[in-house]
Amino acid sequence: MYDYALGGKENFPADRIAAERAMAMVPDARAAFFANRSFLRRSVAYLLDRGVRQFLDIGTGLPTQGNVHELVPPDAQVVYVDYDPVVVSHASMLLAGVGNAVTLAGDLRRPDEILAAAPLDFRRPVGVLLVAVLHFLPDGERPFAHVARLREAMAPGSHLVLSHGTTGDRAARMNQVAKVYDSATAPLVLRGAAELMPFFAGLELLDPGLVPVTDWRPDAAERPVSIILAGVGRKD
Ligand SMILES: C[S@@+](CC[C@H](N)C(=O)[O-])C[C@H]1O[C@@H](n2cnc3c(N)ncnc32)[C@H](O)[C@@H]1O
Repeated sequence: MYDYALGGKENFPADRIAAERAMAMVPDARAAFFANRSFLRRSVAYLLDRGVRQFLDIGTGLPTQGNVHELVPPDAQVVYVDYDPVVVSHASMLLAGVGNAVTLAGDLRRPDEILAAAPLDFRRPVGVLLVAVLHFLPDGERPFAHVARLREAMAPGSHLVLSHGTTGDRAARMNQVAKVYDSATAPLVLRGAAELMPFFAGLELLDPGLVPVTDWRPDAAERPVSIILAGVGRKD
C-alpha cells in the first residue's frame, strides 16, 4: 500500500485498492508518506554527522527511492530487516553487488533473532531505525518489550530513530483508515505522544523531541503533516 502511494511499482491489486481507499479518506496521506521518507533521510544524515556508521533498519519496506544504503558513505554498514518475504526477496535482488548493505528476514517481535543475525558490531554505536513500523504492533504483541531489548543491546552513542502513525488533527478520519488496515497483513495502531514516550525510556530524546514528522529538523519547506510523529533518542 505504501509503495503504491509513493509511486512505486512493487505492489499488487489488493494493495492498490486498499491504498486508494485509505487515501480517499485522508487526502494528505500521500504527503504523509513522503514526509516520512524525508524524515528517514534527515535522521540518517543527522546520525552520520554524529559518527554513526552502522544502521539497523527494521521494517524496511519495499525498495523505494532514497534507501538508507544510498544515503550513507561506503564505509557505513546497513542491515535491512523485514518480515515480509516479498520485501526481503525484492530488497535482496536490488542489493546484489552492493557491498555495504544486506537484507535479512526478521520479525521485530523476535528482537533477539535480529540481533544475533545482523552482521553489525553492537559494541559500537548503531542507528536503529524503526520508521513507520511500530504502528503495526498492537500492545498485545509487546512492542515496548521488544524495543527495550533493542535499546539494551545498543552501545553508548547509539541512536533510536522512530516514526509512528497518530491521529493528529484528523482523528475521525484516521480511525476510519485504521479500519481499512483490518483487512491488511497487520492492523494499524495509532498512538499519541504520551503512549510513544516509553519507546525512548533511558535514552536522551534529542531536540526537537517527539514532534509531527515535518517539524523534526526540517531542511526544506514541506506541507505540515500531523498524522505521523517522529523522534530520535540517544543512548549515553
Ligand atoms: C510502511 S512500511 C515502512 C517502510 C520504511 N521503514 C519507511 O518508513 O519508509 C512498514 C514495513 O514494516 C514491515 N513490518 C511490519 N511488521 C513487522 C514486523 N513485526 N517485523 C518486521 N517487519 C515488519 C512491513 O512488512 C513493511 O514492509
